[in-house]
Amino acid sequence: MSRVKITETSLRDGHQSLIATRMTTSEMLPVLEKMDDAGYHALEVWGGATFDACLRFLNEDPWQRLRTIREHVKHTKLQMLLRGQNILGYRHYADDVVDEFTKRAIYHGIDIVRIFDALNDIRNMEKSIEVVKREGAHCQCAISYATSKVHTIEYYLELIKNLESLGADSICIKDMSGILKPYDAFKFVTEIKKITKLPIELHNHCTSGVAEMSVLKAIEAGVDIIDTAISPFSSGTSQPCTETIVEVLAGTERETGMDVKILSEIADHMKKVRDGYLASGVLNPKVFFIEPKTLLYQVPGGMLSNLMSQLKALNAENKFEDVLKEIPKVREDLGFPPLVTPLSQMVGTQAVFNVIMGERYKMIPKEVKKYVQGYYGKPPAPITDEIRKIIIGDDEVITQRPADLLENELEKAKEEISELYETTEDVLSYVLFPQPAKEFLENRKFNSYKNAEGFIG
Ligand code: CO
Repeated sequence: MSRVKITETSLRDGHQSLIATRMTTSEMLPVLEKMDDAGYHALEVWGGATFDACLRFLNEDPWQRLRTIREHVKHTKLQMLLRGQNILGYRHYADDVVDEFTKRAIYHGIDIVRIFDALNDIRNMEKSIEVVKREGAHCQCAISYATSKVHTIEYYLELIKNLESLGADSICIKDMSGILKPYDAFKFVTEIKKITKLPIELHNHCTSGVAEMSVLKAIEAGVDIIDTAISPFSSGTSQPCTETIVEVLAGTERETGMDVKILSEIADHMKKVRDGYLASGVLNPKVFFIEPKTLLYQVPGGMLSNLMSQLKALNAENKFEDVLKEIPKVREDLGFPPLVTPLSQMVGTQAVFNVIMGERYKMIPKEVKKYVQGYYGKPPAPITDEIRKIIIGDDEVITQRPADLLENELEKAKEEISELYETTEDVLSYVLFPQPAKEFLENRKFNSYKNAEGFIG
C-alpha cells in the first residue's frame, strides 16, 4: 500500500472549529513557506466560514488572502470547501453566481475544490462540479456522513457511483459530527474501495473522542488521504493532530514521508497564535472537552454549544436534555437530514421551539417551511403527509432542482453597489454576504480617499 497523504486544515477548519475562524492572514504568513516544504498533500485554506469571517470580523479581503497564500505556497496544492449551490452561504445562489465564484476561486489559486451538499442532493452539486471540471481544477466530491435508517452503506455507495459519473476526481467522507466510529470506518472504506478506484479522503472531528481511532482504522482499510491539523489547532471540535498521525505511521508501510522537524517549527509558531486567542478569551478551553453524547444523539459538537447559548438566552438552560432528546425526533420528521450547515441550525432551532413552546410545531422557522417545500433539495427520506401538512399546510412542494427557479443575480448586484465595487470579486463578496461586504467596501473606499487627499493617521 502507498503512503498516506495528509491535508493540513489549520488554516481553515482548524481555526474555524476552535476560534470561530478568527485567524488573520498575517498570523498565517510566518508558516506558509514551511507548510509548503513540509510534504503535505494539500493545505485547506479557504471556503467554509473563512470568507465571511474575513469581511465581517477582520476587515480583510478574502480574495486577497487567497492570493497572498498562493504567493507563498508555490508547490503544495491549495484546497477550499464549497457548499455546492450554497457556495459559502446559507441559501441557494443562482447558477451565474456559482459559476463566476468558482471560476475566480480557481483563477486566484485554488487547486482542489471540495464540494458537498448538506442533503447529499446531487442536483445541488452539479453546477459547481461542472465549473470545477471546466476550469481544470481537481473536483473532490464530499458525502455528508450521517446515520439513520436511510443512510446505509448501500445508500452511500450509490451516491459515490453517481458522483463519480458526474466527474468526481476523488471522494471525501465528510464526518462533520465526528460520529463515524472506528470499525464502521474500516468497513465503509473497504466497501468504497471495492466500487471505485478514486482516491478516498477522510475528514472528521475529534468531538466525540473517536476520531483518531477512526483515522487509524480507515488507514488500515486503505484510505488515501487524511485531514489533520497542526497540534495547536487540533483535537476537541477540530481535526486529529498532524504530528501525532505522522509519528504513528512512521516506519510502517503507510508512512507519510513528512518532515517532522518542519512540522514542529510550524507548531511552535501556531502555539503562540493559539495562546494569544486563549488569553483574549476567543479560545474557550471547553472546545477541547470530549462529548460522547454526540454519538448518542448524533448531534455535532458545534451544534451542542449553539443550543446551550440559545437556551441560555431564553433562560431555559434546564431544558437542555429535553432539547437533545427532541432533536432526533425532529430529524426523523424532516426525513433524516444530515446535521450540517444549514440543516443543523434548522433542526436545532425547531427542536428548541418544540420544547420551549410546550407544543410541537406551534412555532416554525421560515427556513424549515422552505426546506419542507423542497427549496433546499430532496430530503434523504420522504416526509410523511401528516408532518408536511402540519408544517406547510396545503402549500406546494417543488420537485425540480431548486436553483432552476432562481434568476441570475450578478448584474442586479452590480447595479446595487455600482459606487463601491472595483472588481467582479467585490461583487461576488457582496452577493454572498451583502452587509459585511458593503461595510468592507465602504471602508476601503473611505481609506483610499483619505490616502489620496494626504490625510495622516
Ligand atoms: Co469539518
